Amino acid sequence: MFENKRIGVIGAGVMGQAMINGLLHSGQIQFTQVWASVKSESSQLKLSEGSVYPVYTDFSDEIAKTDIFLVCTKPRYVSSVLDVLKASGNLKPGCLIISIAAGITIARMKEHLGSDVALIRAMPNTPCKINEGITVISPAPGVSAEHKAIANSIFSSVGKALELDETHLDAVTAVSGSGPAYIFLIMEALADGAVRVGLPRDVALQLVSQTVLGSAKMLQLAGKHPASLKDDVTTPAGSTIAALLTMEDGKIRSVLARAVEEATRTARGLGNS
Ligand SMILES: NC(=O)c1ccc[n+]([C@@H]2O[C@H](COP(=O)([O-])OP(=O)(O)OC[C@H]3O[C@@H](n4cnc5c(N)ncnc54)[C@H](OP(=O)(O)O)[C@@H]3O)[C@@H](O)[C@H]2O)c1
Repeated sequence: MFENKRIGVIGAGVMGQAMINGLLHSGQIQFTQVWASVKSESSQLKLSEGSVYPVYTDFSDEIAKTDIFLVCTKPRYVSSVLDVLKASGNLKPGCLIISIAAGITIARMKEHLGSDVALIRAMPNTPCKINEGITVISPAPGVSAEHKAIANSIFSSVGKALELDETHLDAVTAVSGSGPAYIFLIMEALADGAVRVGLPRDVALQLVSQTVLGSAKMLQLAGKHPASLKDDVTTPAGSTIAALLTMEDGKIRSVLARAVEEATRTARGLGNS
């Protein structure tokens, strides 16, 4: 799939590095097939120290030799990056540009690049760093099956990948893109509760993290609704129902659901900032 292809990761921060590492460790590409870029010389120095691939602050010499660009800068820098690519006049015919920036639409990317470049928007999450991510891929209309397969292969190297229409991407950003932060907050709160009732912090975190991991696996494997799995833990007059009703008193369901709604609204506006 990546034979004779060169990949440029523009914005090799948390997510960009996760993508490069996933591709290299999966064996799909050799280190000679990838380059990375960052904004500051300090980041360039830091990343270069531990990298087998080149790291640039100015990637203009690489544009003509690159088949796949992965744009992983913060959303506010995407326009200027796309302008650099377009203004170079050196984009290879048939090259693919994938952006993972929240809120930056395909229409917005086209404003900078024109309509003859293959564009894909994607939304991964930080568990990609340990190959347990989930990424939703939204190709622009007319993107070839080969380009879709390339995007699928890139994001499958760091977890699961699925394709959805772009109209869903702000919601995806709010659910799985931001989702790890919600889960970490919930895990921290559960661990605080455990500490309050006398467990050591390290034991509390071990109990909570394995419980979340096991519950997530059960949900994926059991093919049952979460309410049914929850009911399996809940015995009459027991401690679980006591805890659940306390959570319901705090409106935990609507707080979490409304948080996703609010994050979706915010994600939609990110492209305008
Ligand atoms: N983090 C998440 O949970 C997550 C999840 C899904 C999607 N995303 C999306 O992923 C993108 C990156 O997020 P992140 O958390 O990985 O950010 P990050 O760690 O801050 O990394 C951004 C990188 O972009 C570089 N950069 C900035 N301007 C540049 C330019 N003009 N040319 C080349 N490189 C440039 C920065 O370089 P310096 O280090 O020199 O500043 C930095 O290395 C965002 O658009 C975000 O919406 C993030």
